[in-house]
Amino acid sequence: MTLLEIFPSLRSGMLSPRLDATIWPCETHYDDLGRITIGGVALADIADQYGTPVYVLDESEVRRRCRAYRKYFPDAEIIYAAKALLTKSVAAWVAEEGLSVDVCSGGELAIALAAGVDPQRIMLHGSGKPFAELEAAVHAGVGRIVVDSITEITLLAAVATRPQQVLLRLSPDIDVHGHPAVRTGVADQKFGFPLGSVAAVDAIDRIMRQPMLELVGLHCHLGSQIHDPDFYGEAVRRLIAEMSRVRAEYGRTLPQLDLGGGHAVAYRCGDAEMNLPVLADIVEDSLDAACALNHFPRPQISLEPGRAIVARAGVTLYRVMAVKHVEGGHTFVIADGGMNDNPRVALYGARYDAVVANRHPTGPHMTATVAGRYCEAGDILAADVSLPADLRPGEVLAVPCTGAYHHSLASTYNGVGRPPIISVRNGRCHEQIRRETSADLLARDLG
Ligand SMILES: Cc1ncc(COP(=O)(O)O)c(C=O)c1O
Repeated sequence: MTLLEIFPSLRSGMLSPRLDATIWPCETHYDDLGRITIGGVALADIADQYGTPVYVLDESEVRRRCRAYRKYFPDAEIIYAAKALLTKSVAAWVAEEGLSVDVCSGGELAIALAAGVDPQRIMLHGSGKPFAELEAAVHAGVGRIVVDSITEITLLAAVATRPQQVLLRLSPDIDVHGHPAVRTGVADQKFGFPLGSVAAVDAIDRIMRQPMLELVGLHCHLGSQIHDPDFYGEAVRRLIAEMSRVRAEYGRTLPQLDLGGGHAVAYRCGDAEMNLPVLADIVEDSLDAACALNHFPRPQISLEPGRAIVARAGVTLYRVMAVKHVEGGHTFVIADGGMNDNPRVALYGARYDAVVANRHPTGPHMTATVAGRYCEAGDILAADVSLPADLRPGEVLAVPCTGAYHHSLASTYNGVGRPPIISVRNGRCHEQIRRETSADLLARDLG
Protein backbone atom coordinates (compact mmCIF):
# COMPACT_ATOMS: atom_id res chain seq x y z
CA MET A 1 0.00 0.00 0.00
CA THR A 2 1.33 3.45 -0.95
CA LEU A 3 1.22 6.64 1.07
CA LEU A 4 -1.32 8.06 -1.38
CA GLU A 5 -3.65 5.13 -0.81
CA ILE A 6 -3.40 5.51 2.96
CA PHE A 7 -3.82 9.32 2.85
CA PRO A 8 -5.88 10.07 -0.28
CA SER A 9 -6.15 13.74 0.71
CA LEU A 10 -2.44 14.09 -0.12
CA ARG A 11 -3.45 13.89 -3.75
CA SER A 12 -5.68 16.92 -3.63
CA GLY A 13 -4.10 19.94 -5.28
CA MET A 14 -1.04 17.94 -6.25
CA LEU A 15 0.16 17.81 -9.85
CA SER A 16 2.00 14.53 -10.29
CA PRO A 17 4.73 14.10 -12.90
CA ARG A 18 2.21 12.38 -15.17
CA LEU A 19 0.29 15.69 -15.29
CA ASP A 20 3.01 17.90 -16.70
CA ALA A 21 2.22 21.53 -15.94
CA THR A 22 3.16 22.63 -19.46
CA ILE A 23 0.45 20.62 -21.21
CA TRP A 24 -2.46 20.75 -18.74
CA PRO A 25 -4.53 23.78 -17.75
CA CYS A 26 -3.11 25.54 -14.67
CA GLU A 27 -6.17 24.60 -12.64
CA THR A 28 -5.59 20.83 -12.99
CA HIS A 29 -5.55 18.91 -9.72
CA TYR A 30 -6.52 15.63 -8.12
CA ASP A 31 -9.52 15.35 -5.83
CA ASP A 32 -9.71 13.20 -2.72
CA LEU A 33 -10.77 10.21 -4.80
CA GLY A 34 -7.65 10.49 -6.95
CA ARG A 35 -9.63 11.76 -9.93
CA ILE A 36 -8.32 14.54 -12.18
CA THR A 37 -10.17 17.82 -11.82
CA ILE A 38 -10.02 20.87 -14.06
CA GLY A 39 -11.53 24.19 -13.04
CA GLY A 40 -12.75 22.47 -9.90
CA VAL A 41 -14.75 19.77 -11.75
CA ALA A 42 -13.83 16.08 -11.84
CA LEU A 43 -13.35 14.93 -15.42
CA ALA A 44 -14.97 11.59 -14.61
CA ASP A 45 -18.13 13.44 -13.55
CA ILE A 46 -18.20 15.32 -16.85
CA ALA A 47 -17.85 12.01 -18.70
CA ASP A 48 -20.74 10.56 -16.68
CA GLN A 49 -23.00 13.56 -17.15
CA TYR A 50 -22.37 14.47 -20.79
CA GLY A 51 -21.13 11.18 -22.22
CA THR A 52 -17.94 10.61 -24.17
CA PRO A 53 -16.09 11.65 -26.21
CA VAL A 54 -16.39 15.13 -24.81
CA TYR A 55 -14.28 18.26 -25.15
CA VAL A 56 -13.63 20.00 -21.82
CA LEU A 57 -12.57 23.63 -21.98
CA ASP A 58 -11.13 25.58 -19.05
CA GLU A 59 -12.38 29.16 -19.30
CA SER A 60 -9.79 30.52 -16.86
CA GLU A 61 -6.97 29.04 -18.93
CA VAL A 62 -8.22 30.74 -22.10
CA ARG A 63 -8.47 34.05 -20.26
CA ARG A 64 -5.03 33.54 -18.68
CA ARG A 65 -3.43 33.07 -22.09
CA CYS A 66 -5.16 36.19 -23.47
CA ARG A 67 -3.81 38.16 -20.50
CA ALA A 68 -0.30 36.79 -21.06
CA TYR A 69 -0.32 38.13 -24.63
CA ARG A 70 -1.63 41.51 -23.48
CA LYS A 71 1.03 41.64 -20.79
CA TYR A 72 3.99 40.81 -23.01
CA PHE A 73 2.77 42.80 -26.04
CA PRO A 74 1.16 45.85 -24.42
CA ASP A 75 1.40 47.98 -27.58
CA ALA A 76 0.35 45.31 -30.07
CA GLU A 77 -3.11 44.36 -31.20
CA ILE A 78 -3.77 40.72 -30.34
CA ILE A 79 -6.16 39.18 -32.83
CA TYR A 80 -7.45 35.77 -31.81
CA ALA A 81 -7.37 33.35 -34.76
CA ALA A 82 -10.85 31.89 -34.44
CA LYS A 83 -10.09 28.95 -36.71
CA ALA A 84 -8.41 27.30 -33.73
CA LEU A 85 -11.72 27.13 -31.83
CA LEU A 86 -14.78 29.27 -32.14
CA THR A 87 -17.97 29.20 -30.11
CA LYS A 88 -20.04 32.16 -29.02
CA SER A 89 -18.63 31.87 -25.50
CA VAL A 90 -15.01 31.67 -26.66
CA ALA A 91 -15.52 34.72 -28.87
CA ALA A 92 -17.05 36.60 -25.93
CA TRP A 93 -14.22 35.60 -23.57
CA VAL A 94 -11.43 36.75 -25.87
CA ALA A 95 -13.27 39.99 -26.68
CA GLU A 96 -13.76 40.64 -22.96
CA GLU A 97 -10.01 40.14 -22.53
CA GLY A 98 -9.35 42.88 -25.07
CA LEU A 99 -8.50 40.74 -28.11
CA SER A 100 -9.76 41.30 -31.64
CA VAL A 101 -11.00 38.30 -33.64
CA ASP A 102 -9.79 36.94 -36.97
CA VAL A 103 -12.41 34.94 -38.87
CA CYS A 104 -11.92 33.07 -42.10
CA SER A 105 -15.46 32.37 -43.33
CA GLY A 106 -19.00 33.65 -43.28
CA GLY A 107 -19.77 31.02 -40.63
CA GLU A 108 -17.04 32.20 -38.28
CA LEU A 109 -18.11 35.78 -38.92
CA ALA A 110 -21.69 34.90 -37.97
CA ILE A 111 -20.56 33.27 -34.71
CA ALA A 112 -18.35 36.23 -33.76
CA LEU A 113 -21.17 38.68 -34.52
CA ALA A 114 -23.68 36.55 -32.59
CA ALA A 115 -21.30 36.67 -29.62
CA GLY A 116 -21.45 40.45 -29.73
CA VAL A 117 -17.90 41.06 -30.98
CA ASP A 118 -17.59 44.62 -32.30
CA PRO A 119 -17.42 44.27 -36.12
CA GLN A 120 -14.66 46.88 -36.17
CA ARG A 121 -12.54 44.43 -34.16
CA ILE A 122 -13.08 41.60 -36.63
CA MET A 123 -10.62 40.83 -39.41
CA LEU A 124 -11.53 38.58 -42.35
CA HIS A 125 -9.01 36.14 -43.80
CA GLY A 126 -9.09 33.38 -46.39
CA SER A 127 -7.39 32.23 -49.55
CA GLY A 128 -10.65 31.90 -51.49
CA LYS A 129 -13.32 34.12 -50.00
CA PRO A 130 -16.63 33.60 -51.81
CA PHE A 131 -18.35 36.74 -53.07
CA ALA A 132 -21.29 36.30 -50.66
CA GLU A 133 -18.91 36.12 -47.70
CA LEU A 134 -17.04 39.24 -48.77
CA GLU A 135 -20.39 40.95 -49.14
CA ALA A 136 -21.54 39.79 -45.69
CA ALA A 137 -18.28 41.00 -44.14
CA VAL A 138 -18.44 44.40 -45.81
CA HIS A 139 -22.10 44.84 -44.88
CA ALA A 140 -21.41 43.80 -41.29
CA GLY A 141 -18.75 46.52 -41.19
CA VAL A 142 -15.74 44.34 -40.37
CA GLY A 143 -12.71 46.44 -39.52
CA ARG A 144 -10.24 44.90 -41.95
CA ILE A 145 -10.08 42.34 -44.72
CA VAL A 146 -6.81 40.63 -45.60
CA VAL A 147 -6.54 40.48 -49.37
CA ASP A 148 -5.29 37.16 -50.70
CA SER A 149 -5.78 37.36 -54.49
CA ILE A 150 -6.22 39.74 -57.41
CA THR A 151 -9.78 38.49 -57.96
CA GLU A 152 -10.63 39.51 -54.43
CA ILE A 153 -9.54 43.08 -55.07
CA THR A 154 -12.01 43.28 -57.95
CA LEU A 155 -14.83 41.69 -55.92
CA LEU A 156 -14.17 43.89 -52.90
CA ALA A 157 -14.10 47.02 -55.01
CA ALA A 158 -17.51 45.96 -56.35
CA VAL A 159 -19.15 45.37 -52.94
CA ALA A 160 -17.61 48.19 -50.89
CA THR A 161 -19.99 51.10 -50.68
CA ARG A 162 -17.91 52.92 -48.09
CA PRO A 163 -14.13 52.93 -47.53
CA GLN A 164 -12.95 49.44 -46.50
CA GLN A 165 -9.61 48.96 -44.78
CA VAL A 166 -7.56 46.10 -46.19
CA LEU A 167 -4.18 44.50 -45.57
CA LEU A 168 -2.25 42.62 -48.20
CA ARG A 169 -1.03 39.13 -47.37
CA LEU A 170 2.55 38.55 -48.45
CA SER A 171 4.74 35.49 -48.09
CA PRO A 172 8.18 36.71 -47.03
CA ASP A 173 9.88 33.46 -48.15
CA ILE A 174 10.80 32.36 -44.64
CA ASP A 175 10.93 28.61 -44.23
CA VAL A 176 10.09 27.56 -40.69
CA HIS A 177 10.85 23.91 -41.50
CA GLY A 178 7.54 22.52 -40.31
CA HIS A 179 5.21 19.96 -41.81
CA PRO A 180 4.59 20.98 -45.47
CA ALA A 181 0.91 21.55 -44.64
CA VAL A 182 1.77 24.27 -42.13
CA ARG A 183 4.65 26.15 -43.82
CA THR A 184 2.84 29.18 -45.10
CA GLY A 185 5.67 31.72 -45.13
CA VAL A 186 7.49 30.25 -48.14
CA ALA A 187 6.99 31.75 -51.58
CA ASP A 188 5.66 28.67 -53.35
CA GLN A 189 2.35 28.04 -51.57
CA LYS A 190 -1.27 29.03 -52.00
CA PHE A 191 -1.64 31.98 -49.61
CA GLY A 192 -1.15 35.63 -50.52
CA PHE A 193 1.59 36.89 -52.82
CA PRO A 194 5.34 36.25 -52.69
CA LEU A 195 6.99 39.40 -51.32
CA GLY A 196 8.68 41.37 -54.10
CA SER A 197 6.99 39.38 -56.87
CA VAL A 198 5.39 40.98 -59.90
CA ALA A 199 2.03 39.73 -58.61
CA ALA A 200 2.54 41.42 -55.23
CA VAL A 201 3.52 44.72 -56.84
CA ASP A 202 0.48 44.44 -59.13
CA ALA A 203 -1.82 43.72 -56.16
CA ILE A 204 -0.59 46.78 -54.26
CA ASP A 205 -0.98 48.88 -57.37
CA ARG A 206 -4.56 47.70 -57.95
CA ILE A 207 -5.60 48.32 -54.34
CA MET A 208 -4.13 51.82 -54.47
CA ARG A 209 -6.21 52.56 -57.56
CA GLN A 210 -9.50 51.52 -55.91
CA PRO A 211 -11.13 54.54 -54.23
CA MET A 212 -13.13 52.40 -51.78
CA LEU A 213 -10.17 50.27 -50.64
CA GLU A 214 -7.74 51.67 -48.12
CA LEU A 215 -4.49 49.72 -47.82
CA VAL A 216 -3.55 50.03 -44.14
CA GLY A 217 -0.84 47.45 -43.84
CA LEU A 218 0.92 44.24 -44.77
CA HIS A 219 0.30 40.79 -43.37
CA CYS A 220 2.22 37.54 -43.22
CA HIS A 221 1.69 34.21 -41.52
CA LEU A 222 4.81 32.08 -41.36
CA GLY A 223 3.31 28.73 -40.40
CA SER A 224 2.31 26.73 -37.35
CA GLN A 225 4.02 25.40 -34.26
CA ILE A 226 6.92 27.86 -34.61
CA HIS A 227 9.04 27.92 -31.48
CA ASP A 228 12.01 29.89 -32.80
CA PRO A 229 11.17 33.60 -32.35
CA ASP A 230 13.92 34.68 -34.74
CA PHE A 231 11.69 33.87 -37.72
CA TYR A 232 9.40 36.71 -36.63
CA GLY A 233 12.37 39.10 -36.37
CA GLU A 234 13.28 38.26 -39.95
CA ALA A 235 9.67 38.78 -41.07
CA VAL A 236 9.68 42.24 -39.47
CA ARG A 237 12.88 43.19 -41.32
CA ARG A 238 11.58 42.03 -44.70
CA LEU A 239 8.13 43.55 -44.36
CA ILE A 240 9.32 46.92 -43.04
CA ALA A 241 11.62 47.12 -46.08
CA GLU A 242 8.58 46.47 -48.28
CA MET A 243 6.50 49.07 -46.43
CA SER A 244 9.29 51.52 -47.01
CA ARG A 245 9.25 50.67 -50.72
CA VAL A 246 5.48 51.26 -50.84
CA ARG A 247 5.99 54.66 -49.20
CA ALA A 248 8.65 55.58 -51.76
CA GLU A 249 6.44 54.48 -54.65
CA TYR A 250 3.04 55.83 -53.56
CA GLY A 251 3.87 58.38 -50.89
CA ARG A 252 1.71 56.41 -48.44
CA THR A 253 2.97 55.26 -45.03
CA LEU A 254 1.21 52.04 -44.10
CA PRO A 255 0.41 52.16 -40.37
CA GLN A 256 -0.07 48.43 -39.61
CA LEU A 257 2.07 45.30 -39.73
CA ASP A 258 0.39 41.98 -38.97
CA LEU A 259 2.82 39.14 -38.19
CA GLY A 260 0.18 36.37 -38.16
CA GLY A 261 0.13 33.57 -35.62
CA GLY A 262 1.77 30.17 -35.43
CA HIS A 263 3.24 30.28 -31.90
CA ALA A 264 4.08 26.77 -30.77
CA VAL A 265 2.54 25.04 -27.77
CA ALA A 266 3.71 21.86 -26.06
CA TYR A 267 1.46 18.90 -26.82
CA ARG A 268 3.57 16.46 -24.85
CA CYS A 269 5.91 16.83 -21.95
CA GLY A 270 9.22 18.28 -23.23
CA ASP A 271 7.87 19.70 -26.51
CA ALA A 272 9.32 23.10 -27.41
CA GLU A 273 6.92 26.04 -27.12
CA MET A 274 7.10 29.72 -28.01
CA ASN A 275 8.57 31.85 -25.25
CA LEU A 276 6.40 35.00 -25.30
CA PRO A 277 8.75 37.42 -23.50
CA VAL A 278 11.60 36.41 -25.80
CA LEU A 279 9.36 36.80 -28.85
CA ALA A 280 8.32 40.24 -27.58
CA ASP A 281 11.97 41.31 -27.25
CA ILE A 282 12.89 40.05 -30.69
CA VAL A 283 9.93 41.77 -32.36
CA GLU A 284 10.76 45.02 -30.53
CA ASP A 285 14.45 44.91 -31.41
CA SER A 286 13.93 44.00 -35.06
CA LEU A 287 11.26 46.68 -35.36
CA ASP A 288 13.61 49.30 -33.91
CA ALA A 289 16.43 48.23 -36.20
CA ALA A 290 14.33 47.90 -39.37
CA CYS A 291 12.52 51.20 -38.83
CA ALA A 292 15.78 53.00 -38.16
CA LEU A 293 17.42 51.46 -41.24
CA ASN A 294 14.52 52.45 -43.49
CA HIS A 295 13.72 55.74 -41.73
CA PHE A 296 10.23 54.38 -41.32
CA PRO A 297 7.84 55.22 -38.45
CA ARG A 298 6.95 52.28 -36.21
CA PRO A 299 3.76 50.64 -37.43
CA GLN A 300 1.19 49.14 -35.08
CA ILE A 301 2.04 45.46 -34.72
CA SER A 302 -0.67 42.78 -34.73
CA LEU A 303 -0.27 39.15 -33.73
CA GLU A 304 -2.79 36.42 -34.51
CA PRO A 305 -2.35 33.56 -32.05
CA GLY A 306 -4.96 30.82 -32.18
CA ARG A 307 -3.51 27.61 -30.83
CA ALA A 308 -1.46 29.41 -28.18
CA ILE A 309 -4.67 30.87 -26.71
CA VAL A 310 -6.84 27.75 -26.55
CA ALA A 311 -4.82 24.55 -27.03
CA ARG A 312 -3.86 23.98 -23.44
CA ALA A 313 -7.30 24.96 -22.14
CA GLY A 314 -8.80 21.87 -23.81
CA VAL A 315 -8.85 18.26 -22.67
CA THR A 316 -10.76 15.53 -24.48
CA LEU A 317 -12.30 12.66 -22.55
CA TYR A 318 -12.90 9.19 -23.93
CA ARG A 319 -14.21 5.95 -22.50
CA VAL A 320 -12.05 2.88 -22.92
CA MET A 321 -13.97 0.43 -25.12
CA ALA A 322 -11.47 -2.41 -25.21
CA VAL A 323 -7.87 -3.28 -24.39
CA LYS A 324 -6.16 -5.59 -26.91
CA HIS A 325 -2.75 -7.14 -26.45
CA VAL A 326 -1.60 -8.24 -29.90
CA GLU A 327 0.69 -11.21 -29.46
CA GLY A 328 4.21 -10.11 -30.34
CA GLY A 329 2.90 -6.63 -31.18
CA HIS A 330 1.31 -3.57 -29.68
CA THR A 331 -1.16 -3.17 -26.89
CA PHE A 332 -4.10 -1.16 -28.24
CA VAL A 333 -6.48 0.73 -26.03
CA ILE A 334 -9.59 1.35 -28.11
CA ALA A 335 -11.35 4.61 -27.25
CA ASP A 336 -14.88 5.67 -28.18
CA GLY A 337 -13.62 8.66 -30.19
CA GLY A 338 -10.68 9.12 -32.53
CA MET A 339 -9.94 10.82 -35.82
CA ASN A 340 -13.38 12.46 -36.00
CA ASP A 341 -12.74 14.54 -32.90
CA ASN A 342 -8.96 14.69 -33.35
CA PRO A 343 -7.84 14.49 -36.99
CA ARG A 344 -4.48 16.12 -36.22
CA VAL A 345 -2.69 12.82 -35.75
CA ALA A 346 -3.70 11.59 -39.19
CA LEU A 347 -3.26 15.03 -40.82
CA TYR A 348 0.06 16.15 -39.35
CA GLY A 349 1.46 13.17 -37.47
CA ALA A 350 0.76 15.07 -34.23
CA ARG A 351 1.71 13.30 -30.99
CA TYR A 352 -0.34 13.36 -27.79
CA ASP A 353 -0.25 12.05 -24.27
CA ALA A 354 -3.14 10.21 -22.59
CA VAL A 355 -3.82 9.45 -18.95
CA VAL A 356 -6.51 7.69 -16.97
CA ALA A 357 -8.72 10.35 -15.36
CA ASN A 358 -11.09 8.46 -13.06
CA ARG A 359 -8.46 7.26 -10.57
CA HIS A 360 -4.90 7.82 -9.52
CA PRO A 361 -3.10 4.71 -10.77
CA THR A 362 -0.50 3.50 -8.37
CA GLY A 363 0.37 0.07 -9.81
CA PRO A 364 2.54 -0.99 -12.74
CA HIS A 365 2.25 0.67 -16.13
CA MET A 366 2.24 -0.62 -19.71
CA THR A 367 3.13 1.06 -22.98
CA ALA A 368 0.05 1.23 -25.17
CA THR A 369 -1.31 2.93 -28.27
CA VAL A 370 -4.65 4.62 -27.87
CA ALA A 371 -6.59 4.00 -31.08
CA GLY A 372 -9.94 5.36 -32.17
CA ARG A 373 -13.21 3.67 -33.04
CA TYR A 374 -13.32 4.67 -36.71
CA CYS A 375 -12.80 2.45 -39.72
CA GLU A 376 -9.29 3.61 -40.61
CA ALA A 377 -6.05 1.92 -39.58
CA GLY A 378 -4.54 5.39 -39.15
CA ASP A 379 -7.15 6.31 -36.57
CA ILE A 380 -4.71 6.74 -33.69
CA LEU A 381 -5.04 9.18 -30.80
CA ALA A 382 -1.82 8.65 -28.85
CA ALA A 383 0.97 6.26 -29.78
CA ASP A 384 3.23 4.58 -27.21
CA VAL A 385 1.89 6.19 -24.06
CA SER A 386 2.26 4.92 -20.54
CA LEU A 387 -1.04 3.72 -19.06
CA PRO A 388 -1.95 1.59 -16.04
CA ALA A 389 -1.38 -2.08 -16.80
CA ASP A 390 -4.79 -2.87 -15.27
CA LEU A 391 -6.71 -0.38 -17.45
CA ARG A 392 -10.26 -1.68 -18.03
CA PRO A 393 -13.10 -0.96 -20.44
CA GLY A 394 -15.33 1.77 -19.02
CA GLU A 395 -12.50 3.82 -17.56
CA VAL A 396 -12.07 7.45 -18.61
CA LEU A 397 -9.03 8.58 -20.58
CA ALA A 398 -8.06 12.24 -20.80
CA VAL A 399 -5.99 13.60 -23.69
CA PRO A 400 -4.53 17.04 -22.84
CA CYS A 401 -3.84 20.02 -25.07
CA THR A 402 -6.80 19.46 -27.36
CA GLY A 403 -8.38 22.91 -27.29
CA ALA A 404 -7.13 24.03 -30.71
CA TYR A 405 -8.01 22.58 -34.12
CA HIS A 406 -10.03 19.74 -32.64
CA HIS A 407 -13.64 20.89 -32.46
CA SER A 408 -12.99 23.14 -35.45
CA LEU A 409 -11.58 20.27 -37.56
CA ALA A 410 -14.02 17.59 -36.37
CA SER A 411 -16.01 15.47 -38.81
CA THR A 412 -18.94 13.06 -38.76
CA TYR A 413 -17.14 10.15 -40.45
CA ASN A 414 -18.87 6.78 -39.99
CA GLY A 415 -22.07 8.69 -39.17
CA VAL A 416 -20.89 9.58 -35.69
CA GLY A 417 -21.95 13.00 -34.43
CA ARG A 418 -19.43 15.50 -33.11
CA PRO A 419 -18.78 15.76 -29.35
CA PRO A 420 -20.11 18.50 -27.09
CA ILE A 421 -17.94 21.24 -25.60
CA ILE A 422 -18.30 21.60 -21.85
CA SER A 423 -16.56 24.58 -20.32
CA VAL A 424 -15.55 24.58 -16.67
CA ARG A 425 -14.88 27.37 -14.23
CA ASN A 426 -14.95 27.65 -10.44
CA GLY A 427 -16.37 24.17 -9.98
CA ARG A 428 -19.20 24.64 -12.48
CA CYS A 429 -19.87 23.20 -15.94
CA HIS A 430 -21.47 24.95 -18.88
CA GLU A 431 -22.58 23.08 -21.99
CA GLN A 432 -21.41 25.36 -24.79
CA ILE A 433 -21.97 23.06 -27.72
CA ARG A 434 -24.28 20.07 -27.44
CA ARG A 435 -23.51 16.66 -28.83
CA GLU A 436 -24.43 16.18 -32.49
CA THR A 437 -27.00 13.39 -32.75
CA SER A 438 -28.09 11.00 -35.48
CA ALA A 439 -31.19 13.20 -35.75
CA ASP A 440 -28.91 16.16 -36.58
CA LEU A 441 -27.25 14.11 -39.30
CA LEU A 442 -30.60 12.99 -40.69
CA ALA A 443 -31.95 16.56 -40.63
CA ARG A 444 -29.50 17.48 -43.42
CA ASP A 445 -30.28 14.39 -45.48
CA LEU A 446 -33.17 15.47 -47.67
CA GLY A 447 -33.64 12.02 -49.19
C1 LIG B 1 -3.60 33.80 -41.25
C2 LIG B 1 -3.51 33.00 -40.00
N1 LIG B 1 -3.38 33.65 -38.83
C3 LIG B 1 -3.31 32.98 -37.67
C4 LIG B 1 -3.37 31.60 -37.65
C5 LIG B 1 -3.31 30.91 -36.32
O1 LIG B 1 -2.25 30.05 -36.23
P1 LIG B 1 -1.95 29.34 -34.82
O2 LIG B 1 -3.22 28.77 -34.35
O3 LIG B 1 -0.94 28.31 -35.13
O4 LIG B 1 -1.47 30.42 -33.91
C6 LIG B 1 -3.49 30.89 -38.84
C7 LIG B 1 -3.53 29.42 -38.84
O5 LIG B 1 -3.61 28.74 -39.79
C8 LIG B 1 -3.58 31.62 -40.05
O6 LIG B 1 -3.72 30.99 -41.21
